Amino acid sequence: MSDLRPDLPPVDDLAALVDACVAADGVSPFGGHVLESVGLDGDLRYLTATEGGALVAVAVLPAGDPAELAVTPSHRRRGLGDRLLRAVLDTGPAVWAHGDLPAARALAARHGLRETRELVQMRRPAAAPTPRPELPDGVRIRTFVPGADDAAFLAVNARAFSWHPEQGRLDQAGLDRELAQDWFDPAGFFLAVDADDRLLGYHWTKVHPTDPTPADATAPAGPLGEIYVLGVDPESPVRGLGTPLSLAGLEYLRARGPAQVMLYVEGDNTRALRLYERLGFTRFLTDVVYAR
Ligand SMILES: CC(C)(COP(=O)(O)OP(=O)(O)OC[C@H]1O[C@@H](n2cnc3c(N)ncnc32)[C@H](O)[C@@H]1OP(=O)(O)O)[C@@H](O)C(=O)NCCC(=O)NCCS
Repeated sequence: MSDLRPDLPPVDDLAALVDACVAADGVSPFGGHVLESVGLDGDLRYLTATEGGALVAVAVLPAGDPAELAVTPSHRRRGLGDRLLRAVLDTGPAVWAHGDLPAARALAARHGLRETRELVQMRRPAAAPTPRPELPDGVRIRTFVPGADDAAFLAVNARAFSWHPEQGRLDQAGLDRELAQDWFDPAGFFLAVDADDRLLGYHWTKVHPTDPTPADATAPAGPLGEIYVLGVDPESPVRGLGTPLSLAGLEYLRARGPAQVMLYVEGDNTRALRLYERLGFTRFLTDVVYAR
């Protein structure tokens, strides 16, 4: 077994390690944003271990955010996760445990870490019945126009998510990266605007070509719809926009054909959890941040 090295993992080797983890654990060890950024984001650092040239363990260390780490299933219970986590904790205080698996919980406890954040994935069948969206007077829903709506969207997003560790920091460069992704479709990005076309809230949907976190190996591979970001301006004079915006997006996703729709919500965001439960979503998976 090699020492831990600060090397960028080859993309194909990383993909093979992730696939093996998904097959064994039913969940990817790395968040989608992290996987999309490997090799592209100069702020990411890495720790890798190889055996006979094959990648067997990897940690991804984003500057200022919790690290993510995984050991390939064939090399577990040999002390590798322990070494990797020790090295990770030398560089930062926190680590993600996607799916909060028993092994991660045990490893975190052994290092004296405690749960500091819970991110819940909820799902519902895309075809489940939903009421017709009812809009407050003077409000209409239209779709996002790239370029023209960027600044208004970024301002409302920053206010709606000022408390959120990631979403509130989205800037023009980050938005440009998202708009350039293959999955981006302006027809699935809904804006609630007033009579003067002032933005009050939005619902950005996404269709994943394959399910990034299948329940198990027999689950349908995809596609999977997502309530990607739903936000209402805290300064909006009109209330009650969350439900009609959600419904507009759900209608669009149903027409696009995925069997299921998922979303992520912070475990302590009780208002959002209540909204989604009312719309028929139930808890599917929990990701946890463990920290000192
Ligand atoms: C969590 C993970 C990194 C552990 O890797 P590993 O190489 O198997 O861990 P180690 O062999 O170093 O185990 C260290 C200790 O963690 C605990 N542990 C690890 N796996 C365990 C399991 N399946 N059940 C119970 N305890 C476990 C034990 O205390 C173990 O010590 P022991 O083997 O002496 O009993 C690995 O299971 C993994 O990649 N999981 C998916 C990704 C993930 O959850 N990452 C988040 C990590 S916080």
